[in-house]
Amino acid sequence: MFNDNRAALIAETLQRRIAKLPAGEKLPGVRELSREFQASAATVSAALSELSALGLVRAEPGRGTFVAERAQQTEPDFTWQSQALGPARVDADRASRLGGYGTPDHLPLSWGYLAPELLPNEDLHRIASRAAKHARSWAMTPAVGSAELRRVFAAEYRVDPSDVMIVSGGQQALVFALRTLAEPGDTVITESPSYPGAILAAQSAGLTIASVPADQDGILVERLADELERTRARVIYLQPSYANPTGAVLSPERRVKVLELAERHGAFVLEDDWARYLNIDGKAPGSLISADQHGHVVTVLTLSKSASPGLRLGAIVARGPAGERMRASRTADELCVAPMMQEIAHDLLTSSVWPKHQKRLRLELAERRDALVSALRSFAPSLRIQSVPKGGIHLWVRMPQGSSTSATVAAAYAEGILVGDGRHFFVDEPPAPFLRFSFGAATPAQISRGVSQLARIIEGQAGRLARDSSEDRVDFHGNTARQ
Ligand SMILES: Cc1ncc(COP(=O)(O)O)c(C=O)c1O
Repeated sequence: MFNDNRAALIAETLQRRIAKLPAGEKLPGVRELSREFQASAATVSAALSELSALGLVRAEPGRGTFVAERAQQTEPDFTWQSQALGPARVDADRASRLGGYGTPDHLPLSWGYLAPELLPNEDLHRIASRAAKHARSWAMTPAVGSAELRRVFAAEYRVDPSDVMIVSGGQQALVFALRTLAEPGDTVITESPSYPGAILAAQSAGLTIASVPADQDGILVERLADELERTRARVIYLQPSYANPTGAVLSPERRVKVLELAERHGAFVLEDDWARYLNIDGKAPGSLISADQHGHVVTVLTLSKSASPGLRLGAIVARGPAGERMRASRTADELCVAPMMQEIAHDLLTSSVWPKHQKRLRLELAERRDALVSALRSFAPSLRIQSVPKGGIHLWVRMPQGSSTSATVAAAYAEGILVGDGRHFFVDEPPAPFLRFSFGAATPAQISRGVSQLARIIEGQAGRLARDSSEDRVDFHGNTARQ
């Protein structure tokens, strides 16, 4: 979640005040402002620097800070830029909900990463300080990544280390893979609902997106076959294991069928294996790439979820010419992922810390998932759980028909609760109102409290809706008139 920037808020308040002051007027000193805003001197100084960078104030060393001349405050006119840039590729509204959504005060009932207490942070601190002392951490690695780390991921997927490329996180892996596997204007098929970041990645690669419905067993393969015929898509984006947002696992029968279809249509399957280390009940399903013989599957992995979002470390596994092209064009994008991060990831994955962390994580996630399921069942029975996930961190619920997910999400946000609006997980219109919950970011007690508060918000909305509609009258032509 985004760290609420206190300095920015102070700068905003001062900016409004400055607008009413004459040029040359002296502002109160830092100490006085610190008292007024109950903020540290460093925070107030940061706010003043921001205003100075905007040309709104002028600092005179030893004398204080003064309102700048008005001439320096004329608003820039950027309107020409929109005309020069043309239509935006990436849907800004969808993008605004990824990564930096909410404040630290929000209770995260929907969030894509684990709470700090579930991450191996203390081990990471130790591993990182050791890694900082290696000369290797301060030298470049090849663009495709360090040989040692590539070997670790190669062993996970039983591929040759030369088929692995290290990248900075799953999102970058998706954009990079889509850009290499398809040309702008080509179609990528996604299961629906799907991860909004993949939709954004496809948009930023200039691809047309076609969606195919999915259920608890993954993408509907007959519909996929029709869509491949219709669109001649070159890439199918799937999350075969514990999909975000539904928790679905692609069934063994459908895995076979997806691979057959990819072969028949000469298409790639981009397998987003983000939840590889997040199985809760039983063994994790195998990866799709491990069942693929002829290089149709390109797999993307991230450590952001299971190890640390701040590592920004992921990998792409691709065989044949697709892998060669990706590795060749890698240097056009980035010369290498920060070697220190690669070193830390390698040391973490190969130490005894990793299996222990996974074991603890499984137990903690099970407890939090069960807390979420039981809170929803007892406090919010009108929200229908679509299926209880056996891994991952997300749970998908359906609201009663006619509910407004955007109104619910906005009301929850205003009351300090983050919950995911199902609309953002569909490329097109959602077939029904859905909400996404996550169980990796809040404690069982917070989950229970958050769900009961959310249930009250939803009940309040339903009550208001019922009252409003009883006040509506339908006229002879079927038009609704408010009384
Ligand atoms: C399904 C899925 N894939 C990929 C990512 C990207 O993860 P990263 O933080 O490694 O970029 C996310 C993050 O939310 C995700 O949910």
